[in-house]
Order: sequence, then structure tokens, then C-alpha cells
Amino acid sequence: MAADLAVGIHDLSFATTEFVLPHTTLAAHNGTDIGKYHRGIGLRSMSVPAADEDIVTMGAAAAAPIVARHGSEAIRTVVLATESSVDQSKSAGIYVHSLLGLPAATRVVELKQACYGATAALQFATGLVHRDPSQRVLVIASDVSKYELDSPGEPTQGAAAAAMLVSADPALLRIEEPSGLFTADIMDFWRPNYLPTALVDGEESIAAYLQAVEGAWKDYTEQGGRALGEFRAFCYHQPFPKMAYKAHRHLLRNGGQDSDESRVVHDIGDTTAYNNVVGNSYTAAMYLGLASLLENADDLTGQPIGMFSYGSGSVAEFFAGTVVPGYRAHLRTAAHQKAVARRRPVDYAGYRDLHELSLPEDGSDHTVATQTSGPYRLAALSGHKRIYQPR
Ligand code: CAA
Repeated sequence: MAADLAVGIHDLSFATTEFVLPHTTLAAHNGTDIGKYHRGIGLRSMSVPAADEDIVTMGAAAAAPIVARHGSEAIRTVVLATESSVDQSKSAGIYVHSLLGLPAATRVVELKQACYGATAALQFATGLVHRDPSQRVLVIASDVSKYELDSPGEPTQGAAAAAMLVSADPALLRIEEPSGLFTADIMDFWRPNYLPTALVDGEESIAAYLQAVEGAWKDYTEQGGRALGEFRAFCYHQPFPKMAYKAHRHLLRNGGQDSDESRVVHDIGDTTAYNNVVGNSYTAAMYLGLASLLENADDLTGQPIGMFSYGSGSVAEFFAGTVVPGYRAHLRTAAHQKAVARRRPVDYAGYRDLHELSLPEDGSDHTVATQTSGPYRLAALSGHKRIYQPR
């Protein structure tokens, strides 16, 4: 294993849903002052999956452009991270592998630890590439965030998938050692197998997130990481964009640094462009933040970026990446802006129907309504099997 080999994110692509619910529509329904959504939590709209969309269709839609650009020959591993899985046994990645026509000589696995799972996948991928730099790993983070109707979490829902190709000599971001790690057994947010929506203690979840920022940063420092002042920007997990602001102020204050608004905006302001219109995409959220940063910030060539990944329950990791010269030529800005702009607005009744939609659980044959205009869809259920198709 070559310690000085550069390994990291070679390509990054995301996909989201067919529908979008503006927060003005939700506010009009529940009588909330829109300022609470727009300014208080920093959200303007949320992505809403169509009846025939889920983590598989979004994951395949995010990864297809990567396979089209780079081919599938060097991909020998697919790791799909999610906390809204469709099966207790089979990896959702296998459906994606099939939809994308990836080679049979591939290992495919699913990872779970709330919103943190994709960062574990990224770290496992870099380890595999260090072991054999000729191999590439496709990492997919795909989630549908769903809370009970009329609950405090409801306005923070969303859905998206981010796909990353991890390789040697990456074109976008070199992942650095060390990582700062933190785990604590906390019930801040969880979803028992029998529930379709997440349970959350909102206040505790924010406190747990901030505790994890402190813990992961402390370990990062003890492992010999960079000083706080060295980073050009910071990319946080965004359950809602204002959480990143809370977290960064907390980190700066704890590190004895100036935490005034202009410093915070300078450090994280470019990371929220997608999250504030997509909503929470759990495992994908930090990587939508990274896409937003790379696409919107002034030239970041050679600059270190601090990444803070958090998954309730809880596990967190702080790590650094350095932006690679020439990265701008490899970004997917137009496709990402289109993915967000193409969503069709849904009214409150339509959103509610989709929220409450459930698929049969009795093994009967069921044809799923055609709604998505995306490249892949869940077409049917039969004998408890999910049947996916290119559209
Ligand atoms: N104008 C402007 N701002 C307003 C306002 C108005 N009219 N009304 C309220 N606000 C502000 C409030 O002051 C508050 O700001 P601060 O946090 O800076 O004080 C903000 O809007 C939110 O208001 P509340 O705290 O009253 O909101 P709430 O109690 O209804 O719920 C929440 C907020 C706890 C985040 C809730 O949305 C929730 O439970 N979300 C899901 C859990 C979550 O996302 N937790 C984050 C950490 S856990 C994690 O990161 C993992 C994950 O992905 C889930």
C-alpha cells in the first residue's frame, strides 16, 4: 500500500425526485410563519418522491452519468449507504448494479448508520483503492427522509441520491488522513423496522449533533490533523441548512476563533444551495453540500476543505479533503441545476397522498402508477419482489 498515493473523489453526481413541495404550501396548510422555514431552519422546498421512485431509482439515476463518463470496467465494488432501505436482506445496490448493467465480477453491499453511512462507505472505498489503485469503487448515498405529517420534523423532509466514483489520482477531491471519530449511544433519532417514519427528539438531536462536532474535532486534533484556521471551507451534514450554521459557530467558538456571521458565511455559505431546496437527504446531504461548494465557490484549487459527517444514534467523523487542480472541468453543475429545476410542484393534497402511500405487503401482484419522468422506475411488485425498469 502506497501511503503517498492520492485517493479520493474522482466524480460526483446527484439525482433527486419528480416532485417538489414549496415550504410556502406547507406553511399555508399548517399556519406557520414562513419566516420559520425560510430563515429559522433555512429551507425553501423539499423533494417528494413519486409513487414509482425510491432509493434504488434515485441511486441509479445519480450513478448512471458516472458510468456513462468513465465506463464500468474498473468498478469492482459498489457500496450503497442508506437509512431508508427497501429490504432487510438484499442490498439496494444490487438493483442499481442490475439497472446500470455493471459487470458480474463486482462486490455489492449496503451500509447503515443513519446519515453517516456514506462517509463510512467513502472511507472503506479509499482503503480498497489504496490496496489496489487500479480498482475504482462506486459509492452511492440514497435516502428518502420522512417524518409523521404535522410533526416538527415534517418541514425538514427531502430525498436525493449522491453517487461518487472513488479512485486513485482523483479529479475532484483528495481525501486526507487522519480522521477524527466519535461514537455515543444516544436515542436522538431512530426508526424501528416496523415504522415508515423516523422518530426524533428534536432538541436532543441538535444537542447530540453539537456534542459530536466537539468529539470528532477533539479526536481529529489529537490524531495530528490540520489547525482550524487552515481550512478554506467546511462542509457539514445538513438535516436542514441552519444546522450547519449552528455547528460551525460551535466549532469556531470551541476552537477559540472568531465566529461572527461574515466568517461563518465565508466558511460554509456556498454549501447550502442544493440542500435548501431539496431538504434532508440523510446519507446524501453532506455530499450535496460538497457539490454545492465545488460548483459555487471561487476557485478552490489546492484548498483544504473540512468535512463533518453525522449520523444520529450517533457516529460522527471529521476529515479533510484537498481540492484537485483542474477540478472545475469535471463538475456537473448544469445537470445538478436541471435535476432541481425539473421537479414538478405538487399541491398539499398531492403531497399528502404521496406521503401516506403504502405498497401492498401481502405478496399480491401490483402495478405501480407511472409518475416519474426520471430514467428508472419501480414498475411493479409481485410475490414480495420489487421489479425495477429503465423508463
Ligand atoms: N422567523 C424566523 N425564525 C423563526 C421564526 C420566524 N417566524 N419562528 C421560529 N424561528 C426560528 C427559531 O428561533 C429557531 O431558530 P434557532 O434554532 O436558531 O433558535 C428555528 O426557527 C426553529 O424553530 P423551533 O426550534 O421552534 O422549531 P421546532 O421546534 O418546530 O423544530 C427541529 C425544529 C427540532 C429542527 C425540527 O424540525 C426537527 O425535529 N427536525 C428533525 C430532526 C433534525 O433534523 N435534527 C437535527 C440534528 S439530527 C441530524 O442531523 C440527523 C438527521 O439528519 C435527522
